[in-house]
Amino acid sequence: MKELIDIITERRSTRKFTDQPIEQEKLDLILKAALMAPSSKRCTPWHFVVVEDANDLQTISESRQMGSAFVSGAKMAIVVLAEEEKSDVWVEDASIAASYIQLMAESLGIGSCWVQVRNRKKNDEETTENVLKKLLNIPDGLRAECVIALGYKGEEKAPFDQSKLKLDRIHRGQF
Ligand SMILES: Cc1cc2nc3c(=O)[nH]c(=O)nc-3n(C[C@H](O)[C@H](O)[C@H](O)COP(=O)(O)O)c2cc1C
Repeated sequence: MKELIDIITERRSTRKFTDQPIEQEKLDLILKAALMAPSSKRCTPWHFVVVEDANDLQTISESRQMGSAFVSGAKMAIVVLAEEEKSDVWVEDASIAASYIQLMAESLGIGSCWVQVRNRKKNDEETTENVLKKLLNIPDGLRAECVIALGYKGEEKAPFDQSKLKLDRIHRGQF
């Protein structure tokens, strides 16, 4: 079992994936981790849509002008949503759950990358969020924060270089 500090150090964004399927047990653990994420007042406003269909992954990959193309090569993607009415801090709630997904995936040897959805556009007429809402039949009242692309790693990346830690960003006592 890896220590959390090793998982955090080794997690890098994976944008190239192999064809190897993700085992159901691993997916279950990833989703369980998301459902155990903290949320404001424990209001658990999130919903997660697991997308595996190749055509749907392709549509997601085209939902932005840049920054999402690699999703078509992912084995699956988890769309992270939240009920806006349930939480005035749904962005934070959804983001923490997304981070849990990424860390749990890494601990299981599965690569991931965050694709921003909120505040992003496909083009001048359509938001990325709307593309996903139509594609996945997402009801009104739900907001989309991001998509986490998942799959076994098809690229090697060096772990975080700890000599580059921005230690000057830490302020103790006073700024
Ligand atoms: C809020 C947020 C939004 C991001 N959006 C995207 C994105 O749309 N497309 C993408 O390829 N990577 C995206 N990323 C991944 C970052 O580019 C990546 O985490 C960062 O460059 C550091 O690299 P690392 O994850 O390999 O350490 C996003 C990450 C975060 C936290």
